Amino acid sequence: MKSHLLEPICCPKCKSDLQFNGHENPPSKLSGILVCQKCGSEFNAGEGFIHFIREDEVFRFSKREEFFRSVYASLYTPITNLMFLLCGGTKNARREVLAKLEIRPKSSILETGIGTGDNIPFLKNQIDGGFYYGLDNQVRMLRTCAVNLVKWNCSACLYRANAEQLPFKDNSFDVVFHLGAINLFQNKKQAIDEMIRVAKPGTRIVIADETEKASRLFAIFVGKHEPIEPPMDCIPHTMLQTKLEIIWKGYGYLITFRKPD
Ligand SMILES: C[S@@+](CC[C@H](N)C(=O)[O-])C[C@H]1O[C@@H](n2cnc3c(N)ncnc32)[C@H](O)[C@@H]1O
Ligand SMILES: [Zn+2]
Repeated sequence: MKSHLLEPICCPKCKSDLQFNGHENPPSKLSGILVCQKCGSEFNAGEGFIHFIREDEVFRFSKREEFFRSVYASLYTPITNLMFLLCGGTKNARREVLAKLEIRPKSSILETGIGTGDNIPFLKNQIDGGFYYGLDNQVRMLRTCAVNLVKWNCSACLYRANAEQLPFKDNSFDVVFHLGAINLFQNKKQAIDEMIRVAKPGTRIVIADETEKASRLFAIFVGKHEPIEPPMDCIPHTMLQTKLEIIWKGYGYLITFRKPD
């Protein structure tokens, strides 16, 4: 039987099947290589996760952003908790988003941009016979996430991948969500189309990030960007129950919609 880590994956480039050559037991010691059966792309597995992208493939707006992102990565949780004070506190801020997820027994949950996994403790009790999948493009975040999972006595499958080119088969997940980086994605429309592709029909998709009000506060660190607009124009008209809400005391937006059956 395939490990959970290998179950939903496909080639992020051409979406074809991958052949795994290596050891998969225990999953935390997974090591080997995955080869796409169609385009021949190769991806390494090691440190307990699969590397679908390399360091030189991670997109950054500027060197300055790269520097602050690496500092942010090492202090992610305390800095985020501090920022969430403005939004009503970490617990309230995260719950404002996570309450929209439709998690049922045995749900497979995908978080794109999982970071250090800080949403997992809030969802732990709802993962009843299901499984949590997370991807991030920063290996530092994934390493911290792996350490946190042991600390919290939780399990999740982790992948180093670009949220704009998901390494998962169509219609794989019961819950698909993103909290906190889509404003800086190179291609938001592609990232949203990918979330829709990998969600099972009928899934409610949840996306949250900072509003312009928050972005103005942080421009000093990451540099100036175009004014932030929630990416409502990227949600296809074929989606159902599409809704935009302002959350986090005005510092965040929340988009929800449902993939049709
Ligand atoms: C603000 S953090 C949010 C982390 C987590 N979702 C949370 O709620 O704490 C955003 C995360 O998205 C990741 N990220 C940014 N751009 C990404 C991309 N194109 N693909 C995958 N992950 C990305 C960052 O490395 C970072 O860990
Ligand atoms: Zn391929």
